[in-house]
Amino acid sequence: MERVCAIFILCSLLIAGSYASTSKDILEAEKWFRNLSQRREKVAKLRFYIQDVLGGPNATIWEVARSNVTSLSHTMFGQIRVLDNLITAEPDRNSEKLGRAQGLVTSADLRESALAMNLNFVFTAGRYNGSTLCILGRNPIDTMNRELPVVGGTGVFRMARGFSISNTYSYDPVENYGVLEYTVYVSYV
Ligand SMILES: *[C@@H]1O[C@H](CO)[C@@H](O)[C@H](O)[C@H]1NC(C)=O
Ligand SMILES: *[C@@H]1O[C@H](CO)[C@@H](O)[C@H](O)[C@H]1NC(C)=O
Ligand SMILES: *[C@@H]1O[C@H](CO)[C@@H](O)[C@H](O)[C@H]1NC(C)=O
Ligand SMILES: *[C@@H]1O[C@H](CO)[C@@H](O)[C@H](O)[C@H]1NC(C)=O
Repeated sequence: MERVCAIFILCSLLIAGSYASTSKDILEAEKWFRNLSQRREKVAKLRFYIQDVLGGPNATIWEVARSNVTSLSHTMFGQIRVLDNLITAEPDRNSEKLGRAQGLVTSADLRESALAMNLNFVFTAGRYNGSTLCILGRNPIDTMNRELPVVGGTGVFRMARGFSISNTYSYDPVENYGVLEYTVYVSYV
């Protein structure tokens, strides 16, 4: 009984603690928002690489759904994949880890290879540690300099908008391993 009581009190304290930190975050957000009109717009150019591990037991992108026509379609139309890819500072997979690229990619073009992207860049190191950028748009994967919209962000990147240019830096068909280069042009306040 005492033990149950102790656990109950501990849980209550933990819940109270998380409420307290939530309201602190809200206060910070309120202060930030009230000052929004005085904040200057900033711009940044980011360059990083995404390790696209397509095959093997440690693949970081997996199919979660497909339509009946997907296997008959030369564009894999209707295939939906979830990914959690490593972001690195350089093309080398062992270079500095900057974060993860997480999201959902849908093969959404009946004629050409093009993905409908829903991607979050989650930075866990470097000057943007703790911030995210959100990418949404059409990605024609067989073309060069693919342009995608940056539609928002969190942390440092609150109110972000911009675009990214991406290219396939390398692809190893034996390992089924790709490296993608992203250059992101973003403004935020
Ligand atoms: C509000 O923004 C101005 C201009 O960027 C800055 O100088 C000031 O410190 C900010 N105030 C707060 C409370 O953040
Ligand atoms: C997969 O990951 C495990 C654990 O990190 C590692 O031991 C193994 O060598 C990896 N396999 C391949 C094929 O990379
Ligand atoms: C889709 O495939 C499933 C299983 O292969 C089949 O039962 C179903 O009838 C198919 N639906 C259509 C619309 O072709
Ligand atoms: C990123 O930020 C988190 C939380 O503030 C911190 O714990 C972590 O050490 C930072 N990572 C790096 C590589 O700076």
